[in-house]
Amino acid sequence: MCGIVGYIGGKEALPVLLNGLKRLEYRGYDSAGIALFGPAGLTVHKSKGRIRELEEKISAEKLPGMVGIGHTRWATHGEPSDINSHPQTDAEGRVAVVHNGIIENYGRLKEWLISKGLIFKSETDTEVVANLINFYYKDDILSAVREAVKRLEGSYALGIIAAGESDRIIAVRRESPLVVGLGKGENLIASDVPALLEYTREVYYLEDGEIAVLYRDHAEVYNGEGQAIEKEVSLIQWDAAAAEKGGFEHFMLKEIHEQPRALTDTLRARIRTNTDGASINLEEIGFNESWTRENSGRVVITACGTAWHAGVIGKYAFEHYAGIPVDVDTASEFRYRNPVFDPKDIFIVISQSGETADTLAAMRLAKQGGARIIAITNVVGSTLAREADLVMYTWAGPEIAVASTKAFTTQLACLYLIALKFGVLRGRIQKADMAKYIEALEAIPAQAETILSGKTNIQRFASLQFNKNKVFFMGRLFDYAACLESALKLKEISYAHSEAFAAGEIKHGPIALVDTSTLIVALCTQSSLFDKMESSITQVKARGAAVAVITWEDCKRFDRIADEVFRIPKTEDGFSPILSVIPAQLFAYYCSVLRGLDPDKPRNLAKSVTVE
Ligand code: G6P
Repeated sequence: MCGIVGYIGGKEALPVLLNGLKRLEYRGYDSAGIALFGPAGLTVHKSKGRIRELEEKISAEKLPGMVGIGHTRWATHGEPSDINSHPQTDAEGRVAVVHNGIIENYGRLKEWLISKGLIFKSETDTEVVANLINFYYKDDILSAVREAVKRLEGSYALGIIAAGESDRIIAVRRESPLVVGLGKGENLIASDVPALLEYTREVYYLEDGEIAVLYRDHAEVYNGEGQAIEKEVSLIQWDAAAAEKGGFEHFMLKEIHEQPRALTDTLRARIRTNTDGASINLEEIGFNESWTRENSGRVVITACGTAWHAGVIGKYAFEHYAGIPVDVDTASEFRYRNPVFDPKDIFIVISQSGETADTLAAMRLAKQGGARIIAITNVVGSTLAREADLVMYTWAGPEIAVASTKAFTTQLACLYLIALKFGVLRGRIQKADMAKYIEALEAIPAQAETILSGKTNIQRFASLQFNKNKVFFMGRLFDYAACLESALKLKEISYAHSEAFAAGEIKHGPIALVDTSTLIVALCTQSSLFDKMESSITQVKARGAAVAVITWEDCKRFDRIADEVFRIPKTEDGFSPILSVIPAQLFAYYCSVLRGLDPDKPRNLAKSVTVE
């Protein structure tokens, strides 16, 4: 998500830190900061906005010092602001911390620290980490960090420096990447390789639970039990461009692979397990009974592009799990069709960027009509987030490729969480069912990983089909909604003519288009409708189409009639789009590359459409 860099050595640290942060700019960020050890002790300098603005802010000061940490922040907890930027310090200013990731229990830790008399300045989970470390900090920062991390739940990569210990930097990670760069008479840390390339190509990749202690002339690594370990030195072979993409050929492929991590972050922080069982906790967004009172009229969902497809799936989910009527519409239609509002309506607006012009206009119209607004967005502090009544963030991290992937699946995760919560509050979902649903949601990140590990199968299929110019996706219910997004992915980046059809509609027109040059991708995960899907597949096969089926791992019934079957791990039928879209994303990606196109920058398309 954010970017971390740290330096200890014989050079002035400031230029090294700023240079390292600039190498991470491509990732997207909203603020930047550094902490340095100088003659005045430990000082922190930070600024909302670009690194340039940080440089301007400190340009009048001389900031000598050969040890420091730096950060580019992509906001998760609290809006982009000087105060919320990293490094964060504890209340006494003894410990400075830069952090990537999400501390899931930060709310409880914060309450506990407040009960000890501490006062917080920022809204960040990172300030909680700084205070927790300082709570344990007597005279050895390493033992303080060891104690503090025992209490952290969630994901983190941390770079830490402490007053009185200017000879070392501590680095620790869990589920967020962190690399130690080994130089000559200098050592570095970074969240991403590009920040290190100018200084060294020899690195340690830290594993979960490991703690590195960097001195000027050497670096030590300890395992989670506190024992010193010998790490293997890895040699980075990537050039700068490959390093930015984490070794992947394109940002899109990198982002497809980031989905297990993004889904874990988005789901896990909202699921609580205690002696009473598992439940969904949306207190963080202020979502409670008052939003779901029996007389809540209906839910209206609006968005554009991929986010609208998430909305279509959301409609099916709200109706299925919460039994509440839902209207869903593209924002560009909604805003001009004189929609009828009821103040009891709940309006859900979905937008990766939070800045799409049509989506904002639709939200404002609904607000004027008296509806209550819930925003689902990936960008903290975006216009949508600021103007909505409630905001639920997708914690996908910055998405760079124009075609949306991880933002989409995390939007789905948010919608499922809200739909299930609605279902519980409206008395539609009982405890035993809820336990089953939560178990299914918790399994999804690992299941996504399983699909990704079989990607060569999809690459092989793409190598046979990439020249097809008529590709139709068909399915029913949740599968139809997933088809909309699958077809969009393919047309966006391969320029093949691809469309989505509700399988039952095929015979009402689309079948006239089907011939031997057609590829049909049938999504078959709605178990109660397998017979219907089989009959639709038979009809298109009879017109000479090639058919690929995406279905559950244990489903064999389509093997007989399909030319190709892709299997995905079994989840709740209603959750299937979050998994079934991944093979479609990969198929679109490989078709684009095989056609010699740049999947990251498709022609005529923009990542964020802020004008009409
Ligand atoms: C553009 C992008 C799409 C995106 C849509 C809505 O068309 O290319 O990937 O789905 O805008 O963007 P939003 O930021 O509102 O989700």
